[in-house]
Amino acid sequence: MDDSWRQDLIRRMEIKPGQVVLDISTGTGDIAIAASKICPQCQVVGLDPASNMVALFRKKAPEATMTLGEAEHLPFDNESVDRALCSFGLRNFHNRPSGYAEIHRVLKPGGLWGLLEMTAPKGRIFPIIYGFYFKHLVPLLGTIISLYPGAYQYLRDSVYAFPGYETLKSEHETAGFSLLHYRAIMKGAVGLYVFRKIH
Ligand SMILES: C[S@@+](CC[C@H](N)C(=O)[O-])C[C@H]1O[C@@H](n2cnc3c(N)ncnc32)[C@H](O)[C@@H]1O
Repeated sequence: MDDSWRQDLIRRMEIKPGQVVLDISTGTGDIAIAASKICPQCQVVGLDPASNMVALFRKKAPEATMTLGEAEHLPFDNESVDRALCSFGLRNFHNRPSGYAEIHRVLKPGGLWGLLEMTAPKGRIFPIIYGFYFKHLVPLLGTIISLYPGAYQYLRDSVYAFPGYETLKSEHETAGFSLLHYRAIMKGAVGLYVFRKIH
């Protein structure tokens, strides 16, 4: 399902040939690769602090452009990027306001910033079923498959600690963005947001 959400995000980003597209927290490059397929005439750059992730990305797409770095210190000039994207990475920023400030700095006026992120879902029944799945089954299956329990405990804890729609919208308004699109996927367990840089 996550691939279809990434595709939806990219479709809503109004990416046009010739644009510079920055995929923050690119990991193994899923968004960057999909954006390059949709817009082969764009200059797509993936950025991530984890050299192991970037090495896997390079293996998958040797021709792609990628760089090591953190959202809080983007190695790009002011107003040099048309579109910034981030799927399932915002939760990991050390400091969200610093990340927003950097994204705002590198985006051209009117540029778009799109993100996908997980949080606790809303509702009466679904959060109970989802909570059982996400808090118990995911860490168990993740540990069996990866033999690395810490990663799946971190996933569970960071998702449940992450703010939802209202907080993210207000943080972005403070940082100089206005909300263009929002889609609550699975009762808000995943949020798809597109913001425009306004001033
Ligand atoms: C779950 S992966 C997301 C990968 C990819 N975007 C995807 O959709 O599959 C989260 C990524 O966030 C990165 N990350 C951690 N701290 C970060 C930071 N301060 N700035 C940017 N990315 C960060 C991690 O290295 C990791 O690759």
